[in-house]
Amino acid sequence: MAKRIFVVGAGTMGAGIAQLAAQKGFETRLFDVSADQRSKAQQGIHKSLMSLLEKGKIDAAEHEAIHGRLSVVDHLNAAESADLVIEAIVENLSVKHEVFRSLEAIVSPTCILASNTSSLSIASISSALQQPGRFLGIHFFNPATVMPLVEIIPSVLTHEAVVAQAQELILAMGKTVAICKDTPGFIVNRVARPFYGEALRIYEEGLADFVTIDYAMTSIGGFKMGPFELMDYIGNDVNYTVTETVFEAFYYDPRFKPSFTQKRLKEAGLYGRKTGRGFYDYSVEKADPSKDAALLLQIFNRIIALLINEAYDAVLMQVASPQDVDLAMMKGVNYPKGLLAWSEELGPDTVLNQLNSLQERYGEDRYRPNALLKDRVASGIPLV
Ligand code: NAI
Repeated sequence: MAKRIFVVGAGTMGAGIAQLAAQKGFETRLFDVSADQRSKAQQGIHKSLMSLLEKGKIDAAEHEAIHGRLSVVDHLNAAESADLVIEAIVENLSVKHEVFRSLEAIVSPTCILASNTSSLSIASISSALQQPGRFLGIHFFNPATVMPLVEIIPSVLTHEAVVAQAQELILAMGKTVAICKDTPGFIVNRVARPFYGEALRIYEEGLADFVTIDYAMTSIGGFKMGPFELMDYIGNDVNYTVTETVFEAFYYDPRFKPSFTQKRLKEAGLYGRKTGRGFYDYSVEKADPSKDAALLLQIFNRIIALLINEAYDAVLMQVASPQDVDLAMMKGVNYPKGLLAWSEELGPDTVLNQLNSLQERYGEDRYRPNALLKDRVASGIPLV
């Protein structure tokens, strides 16, 4: 089993991944081109480990051992002895190509190379490599030290043995693994789109305000945050870009169409919590939601039906197994239940009826029920 991890890019994700690896006993090196970023990452990790120490989650000996295992380095050559390299640099294909070409000249022939990319295809990154068989996607969620899920994405050229080794390693980091196909958004960023998109659509139609839509999803669905709170938390710049990227990558399938409302917020610099205002203005108290039970239920039913439809589609298109699709949404974005299991609870026929009536009303492809959902209703056999 590999023991030495090299992380390239010491931003939000890279610093988190390096800290996690060191905490889990791996000899870890963290590199960034920017000296400023290297020192920021070092300080951030130090602060985070101090807080674990103060809370009693690690003892003094462990704290020292973790620091001993983690070094921030100022040259890519330090990847020489690595068994696994995880790249978490800027989301730009040509910059990633350049980094992997340099890495391939440094690392041993058995070293596994991985990217933490969210939106580029694994195949497109691997095209820069002489040995693309040792390359795959290892996609963590933010914050990497906390979120349990890691999506592992082989490209069409990745060797099976490399997938197995990567899986073993990520499990040794204490994470839950979902294996998925090299398709836009992988599992989580694809299946989750309607949580945002349909909430925005409901708002744009004037059916309810942000706070009421959020309340419907938290009070009826048990989601930890409503869609608008969550978009403000993620950042409307980041969330809008993911939606736009997935929409384009799916050849403009209307199911993934971005919203003008969110685009305008992005254009105006209203990113959410980090700028003090997004859908909500964080300098004033939130208004009360409507408590109209029929309205709340209507909102919840509409959003959950679209989410469930997307989960069936991910299974139909072999993106991942039904079990992994359910696991991914619970462990990657904290959904209270897996969507396929939720479909069983609500009744797949009820979900199908909901989609049929939306499609009939709007006449839009966005609401077309998935073939696998129809099969599920016809056969009576659950997927999970
Ligand atoms: P970030 O902007 O916080 O950090 C990127 C770091 O890469 C910066 O410190 C920058 O100095 C460094 N960098 C740029 N070019 C470099 C090079 N040639 N060599 C070494 N370092 C270089 O970005 P973030 O958010 O950490 O994202 C990194 C990757 O992780 C991206 O591919 C992103 O799609 C992916 N990702 C991001 C998530 C998020 O929630 N932020 C979640 C999952 C994946």
